[in-house]
Amino acid sequence: MSRRILEEELKRKSVFRDAGKLLPDYVPASLVHRNKEFRWLAQVFRPIVENRASQRALITGGVGVGKTVLAIKFGSEMKAAAKDRKVDVDYFHINCRKDKSDYAIYAKLVQHYNPRWPYHGLGPEKLLNMVVSHLKTQDKFLILVLDEVDYFIQLNGPDIVYALTRAAEEAGERNRISLVAIAKDQSFLYRLDEATKSTFMHNILRLPNYTAKQLQDIMEPRIEEAFKGGAVDTEVVEMISEAAAKRGDARLALEFLWRAGMIADREGASEVSTEHAREAKTEIHPEFKKEFLRELQLHERLLLLAIARKLRITDQAYAITGEVEKSYEVVCEEYEEAPRKHTQLWEYYKRLEGLGLIELQSSGVGQRGMSTKISIPDVPLTWLEKELVSNLKRK
Ligand SMILES: Nc1ncnc2c1ncn2[C@@H]1O[C@H](COP(=O)(O)OP(=O)(O)OP(=O)(O)O)[C@@H](O)[C@H]1O
Ligand SMILES: [Mg+2]
Repeated sequence: MSRRILEEELKRKSVFRDAGKLLPDYVPASLVHRNKEFRWLAQVFRPIVENRASQRALITGGVGVGKTVLAIKFGSEMKAAAKDRKVDVDYFHINCRKDKSDYAIYAKLVQHYNPRWPYHGLGPEKLLNMVVSHLKTQDKFLILVLDEVDYFIQLNGPDIVYALTRAAEEAGERNRISLVAIAKDQSFLYRLDEATKSTFMHNILRLPNYTAKQLQDIMEPRIEEAFKGGAVDTEVVEMISEAAAKRGDARLALEFLWRAGMIADREGASEVSTEHAREAKTEIHPEFKKEFLRELQLHERLLLLAIARKLRITDQAYAITGEVEKSYEVVCEEYEEAPRKHTQLWEYYKRLEGLGLIELQSSGVGQRGMSTKISIPDVPLTWLEKELVSNLKRK
């Protein structure tokens, strides 16, 4: 029985080629729209290969703006480029949310350099010394990324940053550890001592939020890798990128895509539709707008129903006001109501927009309201229609 279910599921067709390519930990082959930032890092860390000097930089930015992936790309490329120049530069990435103490971080490093070294029972200082002397005897340089360092410092205080930047210098040696700190913003810096703080203050890279267009460019190569050809059309990509652009967040855009694909698979669809994208969105933000629906006046309901129907039938992300109003007249006929005039409808549109139920986007030409694009990006249409119909009584 369970085997049969499993077989059925395994044989079920899928919109995905490899859904794993959308997961947050997957590192894409190339970064899009971060060339300037990559170049900045190259300039800051150039002295490692050139003068065998250590450097420090801080990368900040909101959720999903590519801080982690930029550091991963930079670290690995730098390691390769240094090797070509006969400098042994190593790169190691620590996520401070996973490794929450000095001890955990140093133990990771010790393990990285020699898994056979016995390190249990040793204090953090001793562990750091093991790393420092290994770097020295092997003539290695390390680029250490402390990802989510703000979280770590909140938990443990700032000593680790001090220890890592000064460990070698205090022993009168060349400092071989360069740091890339990653944090939401720079506010944690005030907890560092003046000298350490100022080394970071000089090198802060703030990653801006992605725009909808940039998110589309990030999504496109991922769609190629993750989905079967033609499974996701541009309407869906636009809808998702616009939603995620409100936060400028690439992780959110990819999560939307992944969820929309899972929903399409669940329904046995061969393509991801805009309705799947809407559903994916409510899965991510489950705050349903039911309470807003209750507030609507009769004709606001009829108009919203008309919009929902139009969008569902055409399977488009947008409908134009003219089309919607034809659909509204049909709905009015069905419920035996006299349709309201265009000017009155415009007020309803505005109110529906104010409640966050629809979005209006003027295409900039023609008479006011005539050429406006209307979308329902946040609510699944089938759910919305069902809710509206159950509250509307036919005469
Ligand atoms: N410029 C880009 N090109 C390609 N993929 C990107 C780009 N920026 C981000 N991504 C992808 O988006 C997702 C989120 O990026 P990342 O994890 O680097 O964000 P972050 O800024 O570290 O977020 P958080 O603050 O939550 O840690 C990852 O899957 C990453 O591969
Ligand atoms: Mg990150």
